[in-house]
Formats: sequence, structure tokens, C-alpha cells
Amino acid sequence: MSNTVLITGATGLIGKALVKNCLSQGFNVHYLTTRKSKITTQDNHKGFYWNPEFDDIDLECFEGVKVIINLAGSSIAQRWTKASKSSILTTRKKALELLYSSVKSHNFKIKHIISASAIGIYPDSKTRYYKEDFQGTDSSFLRTVVSSWENSLKAFISLGIKTTALRIGIVLDKHEGALPKISGPVKAFIGSPLGSGDQWQSWIHIDDLVRMFMFVLCSNIEGVFNAVAPNPVQQKDFVKSVAKALKRPLLFPKINKFLLNLALGEMSTIVTESQRVSSHKIQNLGFDYNFHELDVALSDLL
Ligand SMILES: NC(=O)c1ccc[n+]([C@@H]2O[C@H](COP(=O)([O-])OP(=O)(O)OC[C@H]3O[C@@H](n4cnc5c(N)ncnc54)[C@H](OP(=O)(O)O)[C@@H]3O)[C@@H](O)[C@H]2O)c1
Repeated sequence: MSNTVLITGATGLIGKALVKNCLSQGFNVHYLTTRKSKITTQDNHKGFYWNPEFDDIDLECFEGVKVIINLAGSSIAQRWTKASKSSILTTRKKALELLYSSVKSHNFKIKHIISASAIGIYPDSKTRYYKEDFQGTDSSFLRTVVSSWENSLKAFISLGIKTTALRIGIVLDKHEGALPKISGPVKAFIGSPLGSGDQWQSWIHIDDLVRMFMFVLCSNIEGVFNAVAPNPVQQKDFVKSVAKALKRPLLFPKINKFLLNLALGEMSTIVTESQRVSSHKIQNLGFDYNFHELDVALSDLL
């Protein structure tokens, strides 16, 4: 079996770490990017242009590929205007649709597609403990985006291709994503809990997330899996742990929902919603985390 993997969204936070790991484990990486300036051509690391919005894709990217890892999508962490909401939804849908139509019409021999999904599929709740088989939903923007994303992925099943969706929690990375946004104000002595502070935040260390993608890739596991660490925390405890790791006091009270909404608009729901999510399903298949507890993850990252 060829060891070439095709990755979309490879230039992002998760993608960069994943590509590095794939290369270090001897995989050849092909990746699709919407930015021509990001295309490099090395023997084991080749970039190809695509633009799902215009159904434009360089079909050579599929040469020798058996597995696709899909991470593409315009960032959710931007102000939700009408235009950005449309882009958040359609970029994810169109990326998968273009991969699907390309594989189907050219009969490329793909065995497995592994796609990012998100724990935002689970409704806001301070009491539920979400497992993958949870069926309820609501009509909120996040639920609509993630449900449509997972539905687009299901189309590959009709081509006899194994599909895996990883419902990713808040990814903790030293340089990008949520952690610098939380640790920056704490470092500057202006950190405080966000919203009620009681909301559950299901996080995962970037290294464990990359290891989980590799685990799914190497063991050909299919289905839907939560990609969160075993111990979610409440937001106020998250900020306290960051302050402890940085040896800073928390001098300010909570920033309430109203102020957050004023500052960030509707996208403030990303930080105020509560999702306590279980990691048991993937652990039961043998996946072992390096970072179970937030304090250990933070002392590694901060
Ligand atoms: N980070 C998290 O905490 C988190 C949590 C849950 C789920 N996720 C999901 O996991 C995926 C990867 O996350 P990430 O944090 O690595 O995201 P990221 O840093 O924003 O990277 C996403 C990548 O998607 C590609 N992209 C952007 N706009 C696109 C468009 N219009 N069409 C096609 N591709 C486009 C970009 O690649 P090019 O510019 O090279 O095309 C970009 O590098 C995302 O879909 C995200 O929603 C992330």
C-alpha cells in the first residue's frame, strides 16, 4: 500500500503539526492549499492548488494516495457577519464535495477519509456528558455548520470508502488558537473568567490530537470519535490553571455574557457555550493520551 496521504488545510494550526508528524513517520505528504504561495515541491512533501469555491482542483494531488485527511475550512474564530457565516459553512461543505466528486468521477482508489469535525455539534449544556451517539441537536449556527460538515463526509460511504470524523475540542497549542488568546491577558494581569465561568470546556493538547489522527490513520479505524482529553474543566478553572502555570494573580471578576457579546458579537458563543465531552470511545479502542490533566498540558505548553 502506498504511504502517501493527502491533507487539506495542511497549512493551519493542526495541519502543520500533523504534516510534521506524518513526515517523521515516513509518510509522503501531498497537500491541497488555496494559497499558491504555500506550494512547495519536495520528494516527500508536495503542495497542489485547489479552490473548492470554484470547483478548481489539481487532480495530480491524488496520485498514489490511499488516505485523505480533511482539515480545510475558513476560521470559526472570526466575527460572525453574514458573509463570514456563509464562508464558515460553505468552505467546509464545498471542500468535501469537491474531494468526493473528484474521487468519484476519476475513480481514484481512496480507501479511507479522515475528517475534522467539532464538539460544537453538541448543544450547549452544563449537565450533559456527551458521547458520540448523542442524537439531539438545535438550529444554532454552530450545530448547523458541524452537522452539514459531517453529512458531507457521509457521502464517501457510498463509494465504499471508510470514513472517520474526529469531533475536535479546544486545541491547546503554544503559538496559535485558543491558548495564546487566554494566556495573553493573564500574562498582562488582565485575565478573568469568561461568561458564567461554569461552562465546561473540553480541550485537547495539540500533540495528543496529532497522535490521535495518526492512530486512526495507522489502524484504519472508522466512525465518529470525540477528540478531547479525558478531563474537561469548567471555564473558571481553566483560567485559574493558566494563571497558576504563569504564576499570575487573577485580579478581575468574570466578564459577563453581555459584555462578551458586545465585544465579539454572536461568535462569543464559542467561549460561553458548555460542552462536557467524553473521550471513552477512542480510549476503548486503545488510544492512550499523554496529557490527561489540564495542569500537565499547560505546564508543557506555557
Ligand atoms: N483549532 C481548534 O481548536 C479546532 C477545534 C475544533 C475543530 N477544528 C477544526 O479543525 C480544522 C483545522 O483546524 P485549524 O485550527 O488547523 O484551522 P486553521 O488554522 O484555521 O486552518 C484551516 C486551514 O483551512 C484552509 N482554508 C481556509 N479557508 C479555506 C477555504 N476557503 N477553502 C479551503 N480551505 C480553506 C487553510 O489552508 P490554505 O490557506 O492552505 O488553503 C487553513 O490553513 C478546521 O476545520 C477547524 O474548524 C479546530
